[in-house]
Amino acid sequence: MSQKKRILSGMRATGPLHLGNLHGALSNWIELQEQYDCFFFIADWHALTSDYEDTSSIAANVRNMMIDWLSVGLSPEKCTMFVQSHIKEHAELFLILSMITPVPWLERNPTYKDQIMQLSNKDLSTFGFLGYPVLQAADIIIYKAFGVPVGVDQVPHVEITREIVRRFNYLYGEVFPEPEAILTKTPKILGLDRRKMSKSYNNAIYLFDKPDDISSKAAKMITDPQRARKSDPGNPDVCNVFEFHKLYSDKETENTVNKECRIADIGCVECKKMMAKNLIRALEPIREKRDYYEGQPELLDEIIAEGSNKAREIAQKTMEEVRSAVKI
Ligand code: TRP
Ligand code: SF4
Repeated sequence: MSQKKRILSGMRATGPLHLGNLHGALSNWIELQEQYDCFFFIADWHALTSDYEDTSSIAANVRNMMIDWLSVGLSPEKCTMFVQSHIKEHAELFLILSMITPVPWLERNPTYKDQIMQLSNKDLSTFGFLGYPVLQAADIIIYKAFGVPVGVDQVPHVEITREIVRRFNYLYGEVFPEPEAILTKTPKILGLDRRKMSKSYNNAIYLFDKPDDISSKAAKMITDPQRARKSDPGNPDVCNVFEFHKLYSDKETENTVNKECRIADIGCVECKKMMAKNLIRALEPIREKRDYYEGQPELLDEIIAEGSNKAREIAQKTMEEVRSAVKI
């Protein structure tokens, strides 16, 4: 048996992954898989909470997300990757937890009101959407994870999970440990328009973007807003393009840009071209791996099935404990 501490995190299967996801969650997961017993899963039931009217792309999103994960370096040899809906035990635990979760805990959840306002084009006044954090709690505690790597926006959900655990343990006996949020640093890189990189803002660079797309997206990036003309000195410290250089260019290029931008020796057009070239080169191995997995659908099925089997074994054990604690 592995002595490593267990960590779990998930992503909603809502669409293709972009550089914001890579430098936010994924690069952190890639490090964590070396040190912890990691469980990473694709939350397709959670995707249903907001996309229930049109479910046509969820299954494809699940496969594409798994391909993205494998392509950036999550490895089935190092961590357990699976799909939420393949482990029906999550749903059973969700049902039991829903019996003991007071509705006001869910109504006061800040992401609940936020999302309802932001996604005003969708009718989110459903039981399932209100219960989103209860399903998330089931996801986490069914594996008795000690840590949950998430962005700051998800901390309230981990907090509700802890409250649910305390209530469960109080009512039925100590079954679950209280998990902790492990905060992921938010990436400094922004979208093309300097807002947070997001599919819904249409400002993202995707892991699967082709070289030509990357070049034209880079050309559209907003730079230092104070720099109107090429003859104006710029400030790399406030420029998103420079953040990309820090991630994707070598030190020498980074230093040159840093110096020449400030004295208006380099123009933004040229600077972006250099950055795009390096970004394209850095994403090349990811694109190659994606092509490989896209050409091997059976291999992908196998990886998903293997991860799900490993997860299911643990989930089944926990559910035996739960049923006996609840006496049902
Ligand atoms: N709610 C998370 C998000 O939107 C996804 C998620 C579902 C999750 N279940 C989880 C994250 C369990 C961590 C642990 O990002
Ligand atoms: Fe940004 Fe580069 Fe333009 Fe300077 S030269 S403002 S770093 S894009």
